[in-house]
Order: sequence, then C-alpha cells, then structure tokens
Amino acid sequence: MHKILVEPPGPKSLQIVQTIQKNCYDSTFTYPLVISDGQGCTLKDADGNVFLDFTSNIGACPLGYCHPDVMAVLTNWTKNGAHKIAGQDFYSNEHVLLSEAFVSILPDNFKVFFINSGAEAVENAVKLAYRKQFASGNPIMPGVSCINAFHGRTLGALSFTFSKPVQKAGFPELPVLRIKFCSSDADSEVDSIHKLLEQNKVAFILTEVIQGEGGYNFAGQKFISNLRKAADSHGVPLIFDEVQSGMGRTGRWWAFEHYGVLPDIMAAAKALQVGAAAYKKDYDPGQQGVLSSTWGGGSRIDMAVGTKIIEVIKRDRLLDNATKMGTILKKGLAEFVGRGGIIDVRGIGLMVGIEFDTKARRDAALQELFKKGLLLLPAGQKAMRVIPPLTVGPEEIEEGLQLISLVA
Ligand SMILES: Cc1ncc(COP(=O)(O)O)c(C=O)c1O
Repeated sequence: MHKILVEPPGPKSLQIVQTIQKNCYDSTFTYPLVISDGQGCTLKDADGNVFLDFTSNIGACPLGYCHPDVMAVLTNWTKNGAHKIAGQDFYSNEHVLLSEAFVSILPDNFKVFFINSGAEAVENAVKLAYRKQFASGNPIMPGVSCINAFHGRTLGALSFTFSKPVQKAGFPELPVLRIKFCSSDADSEVDSIHKLLEQNKVAFILTEVIQGEGGYNFAGQKFISNLRKAADSHGVPLIFDEVQSGMGRTGRWWAFEHYGVLPDIMAAAKALQVGAAAYKKDYDPGQQGVLSSTWGGGSRIDMAVGTKIIEVIKRDRLLDNATKMGTILKKGLAEFVGRGGIIDVRGIGLMVGIEFDTKARRDAALQELFKKGLLLLPAGQKAMRVIPPLTVGPEEIEEGLQLISLVA
C-alpha cells in the first residue's frame, strides 16, 4: 500500500537530489524520487514515503522488491570475496547457470554473449551482423532501423536510435537507413522494407517489436512479417531489440512470440540484470576476442539474480500473471479514455501505454501521481508507460487504477 507521510520530495530527499545535481550530470530524472528501500510492488523514499511502483525501474525489477528468492541469493553472497570478476577472461559457475537458464527461453540453436547494459547488448548484436557480412567479403553497409526507435545511447546503438532529438543532436552516426514503424496493417508504408532492400544493400534490419522509449507503439503483424520475409529473400539478418519488451513483460518471454516471427539475432537486458546479445549459431564469429568486456559475464551477483528471476517467472507462472493482470489493468484504464486528456490506452500483457492529448497534460499527470504516491514514467512525446512488476496482484492493480482516476 502506498503511504505519503510528507509531500515529496521531503527534506532528506531534497538534500540528496540537490547534492546529485551539484556533483553529477542531470540525466533523465522525471521527478525527485530518492529510493531507499523496496517491498513487493512498493518503493520507500528517503523520507519514509511509500510509493506504489508501476515502473519496475523501467522493467528491470520484474519480481518487485525484497522478493524472498532474490533475497536468499543475495544473502548467499555475503561471504564470497570474488563477487565481481573479469567474466569474459575467467569462467564462473554463475555464467554457466545464467547461460543455461537463458538459452532455455531462447529460440532453438541460439548462443549468447553476456555484457553489461542494454545499449551494449544492441551494439554487440549489431557487431555480430557486421562480422558475418565482413566474413562474406562485403564492404560496410548501412543498417536499417525505424523512426521512433530506441536502442540505447552509446554511439553505435545511438546511430540506430531515433526517438528524441535531445538524444541525437551533435553525435556522429554509423550508416543507417530508416523506415516507418507501422502499427497498422493498412499503413501505406507497411511494405516499404521490400523496396528499400531492392534498392540498397544493407547489413541488417534492427527493430523493437514494441517501441518502448519511442512511445509504447505496437508493431502491426504485417509490418513484422514483412521484415522477416524481406530479410529472408535478401539474406539479411533480422535483429529484434527485446531489451524493454522481453523477459515476460508481455505475457510471453519475448514480444516477437506474439507475431510468430523469429529473429536471427536479438538483444536483451533490464529484467535479465545483465545485457545479452543472443544469436543463431551461424552468426558466431568463430574466433576468440571479437567480442569481450571486463564485466561482461562477470557480475556474479547480477548473474545469480538473473538466473533466479528466470526460475521464479517459470515456477510461479508469472507469464500467465502478466497476461491476466494486464487484461484487468487495460480494462480499468480504458474507462479513463476521454477524461483528463487521455486519448488512448494500448498494451500487451503488462506493457501498457496511456496516450495523452498533449505533452503538458502527460507531464502534469506524472508529477501529480508522484505526489499522490504512484510511480509512472513517460514514453515518447505524450504517452506514459504502465509497467508494474510481473508479480503484481489484483489489489495493487486496483490501487493503481484508483490513483490514476484522481488525474483522469
Ligand atoms: C529497447 C531498448 N533498447 C536498448 C536500451 C538501452 O538499454 P540501457 O539503458 O541498459 O543501455 C533500452 C533502454 O531503455 C531500451 O528500451
């Protein structure tokens, strides 16, 4: 249950925020939440306020907070002196266990390379595609990505990101050709990939199946099927970025499962606790040293927690829970359409977006809900995302809906 004791930010939170602003780059903070602890679907701030968390830390905390199985893993590590190692230079059993758990939820015949973040997962997915082209004797060719895509902020991944000018302005780009991300089968550009590949030689097609940062935009079936068909007929790898939509968020392990289309290469991170570039075995570089990183595969605690998360999602049937709770959530939210500037509600499983008529109304609603004790985050120009932990129950969904009703 949320409980606001002092209007946030309270004095302790405010002091921490001010010190961070003095010492650090002011990055993507939406409101002055200072996290001190968590329990279930709630987060406590530095002043003791308890918030209902419908962000899951952007999907990165799928079991919520203080989950007993995760706490048991963490407790196990209090006596181990080598919790973080150079994991692509030395082996560890956590690397083995995570790889076994992860491969069990990947398409058949996939291998994986673990890395740190989502952006690095995408970078390495893209590198695997370039490497294969190189091995076939091709020159460097452009990659295809989508308008409104978000693939991360490191320079390689940023080249294929196109969600907000603030992320792109002033930075150089790898060669890229962009197509419209089509949500409707009736979109006049739904077939554009065919023409593009007839006219250009490209190294890969990279897309999210559900655009996250770009605004919670859901691809249409025809668009995704066309990407697969075009990729097959031109011998080009199809890369799906599942960093935000993957790991059970949509009620299936991967959003692409809703479309009956498989990638050749994919990127995962967030809920997995570490980044991962996964690929069909024939994309393996077949030579040591092409990919590596000091901490990749080496954050042993994160890997142990990631393994546990996969185990708990399976054991507690959390994919089913995401589908069930997502249905209740969407039904409740749909009743707010037409009120408070809300013009649309869309989602699959627990990956739900609320679209507002203006950015100003969306931003005001986010701040107001924060003050009332509900954490939500923006997506795109004027949408907000509703992404509770996969463990969320009907009472918490009801509590969240009641809070949202205060701004609708
Ligand atoms: C689809 C997608 N790809 C890549 C990234 C980048 O992940 P990270 O922030 O861990 O670098 C994100 C982050 O939000 C994302 O949503």
